[in-house]
Amino acid sequence: MSNNILKGKKGIIFGALDQKSIAWKVAEHAHREGAEFILSNAPIALRMGTINQLAEKTNSEVIPADATSVEDLTSLFESSVQKLGGKIDFILHSIGMSVNVRKKRQYYDQNYDWTSKGIDVSAMSFHKMIQAAWKLDAINEWGSIIGLSYIAAQRVFNSYNDMADNKAFLESIARSFGYHYGVRRNVRINTISQSPTLTTAGSGVSGFDTFYNYANDLSPLGNASADDCAMYCISLFSDYTRKVTMQNLFHDGGFSFTGMSDKLMDSYSKENSDK
Ligand SMILES: NC(=O)c1ccc[n+]([C@@H]2O[C@H](COP(=O)([O-])OP(=O)(O)OC[C@H]3O[C@@H](n4cnc5c(N)ncnc54)[C@H](O)[C@@H]3O)[C@@H](O)[C@H]2O)c1
Repeated sequence: MSNNILKGKKGIIFGALDQKSIAWKVAEHAHREGAEFILSNAPIALRMGTINQLAEKTNSEVIPADATSVEDLTSLFESSVQKLGGKIDFILHSIGMSVNVRKKRQYYDQNYDWTSKGIDVSAMSFHKMIQAAWKLDAINEWGSIIGLSYIAAQRVFNSYNDMADNKAFLESIARSFGYHYGVRRNVRINTISQSPTLTTAGSGVSGFDTFYNYANDLSPLGNASADDCAMYCISLFSDYTRKVTMQNLFHDGGFSFTGMSDKLMDSYSKENSDK
C-alpha cells in the first residue's frame, strides 16, 4: 500500500536496530510513502545491528549519534540538513533502555546510577533531540515529532520497573515542548502509546510473553503490531494531521479503554470450573 503521502518530506528516524524494531518498520513505510530520511542509532548499536541492510533498502544514509549526547545530536542535525538538502519535516524517537530492567533490579531496589542512565536514554534524550533541532532551527513549519510510549506511564504493570517513570517523563516532554514549538514555530509533538510488541527492547521486560498475551486477549482489535504502529506514525508525519499536537495517542487495539473482554471472561471461568 502506498499513497505517496510523504512525498517531498525529509526526516530522521532514530532507533532501528534490527528487522523487529518499530523504527525499522517506520523506515520501510516512510520510504514506500516517498520520504527521504537519515537513519540514526547509537554507535554501539550500529556495530551490533543490521541497519546497513535497511539503509540500502530505503536508499538512506546512516549517521551515528548517542541520543544522550547534545554534541552528537547537534552535529547529526547539521549534517542531516546538509545531506537532505533542506530542513527536516519529521523525527521519530524510537529509543528506550533501562539498566535496572536489563540487570533484573526490582523497582524497590534500584541502582540509582542505572536509573539515571535509563532516564537519560529513554526520556531526556527526547528533550535533548528536540532542543538541538530548535536551536539550529532545523525543522520546517508543520513538522512532526513522535516519541514512542507505553501505557505503564498511566497504570502499573508489575514488571515494567523504572521504564514506567521514563515513559511518564517522555509523555510530559511531548506536552511541554509541544506547546513551545507549536506556539512559536508551528511544529507538532506527540507520543504514541503502543501495544506490547515483539522486539528486542520489548522482550527484555520480564514476563513479556504473559502480558503480551493478556493485552491481546483484552483488546477488542488485538495488539497493534510494529507494522501497524509504523502506519500510524506515517499518518502523523503527513499533512493530514497538522493540528494534532501535545497528545499521548493510544495505539493499542482498544486495550486502554477495556475493562474486561469475552476472551478473558472465558479463560477465567474455565479456570474456575476446573478447580
Ligand atoms: N516493544 C514494545 O513492547 C514497546 C511497546 C511500547 C513502546 N515501545 C517503545 O518503542 C521504542 C522502540 O523500541 P522497540 O520495541 O522497537 O525496540 P528496539 O530494541 O528495536 O529499539 C530500541 C532502540 O533504542 C536504541 N538506543 C538505546 N540506547 C540508545 C542511545 N543512547 N542512543 C541512541 N539510540 C539508543 C537501541 O539501539 C535500539 O535501536 C522504545 O521507546 C520502546 O520503549 C516498545
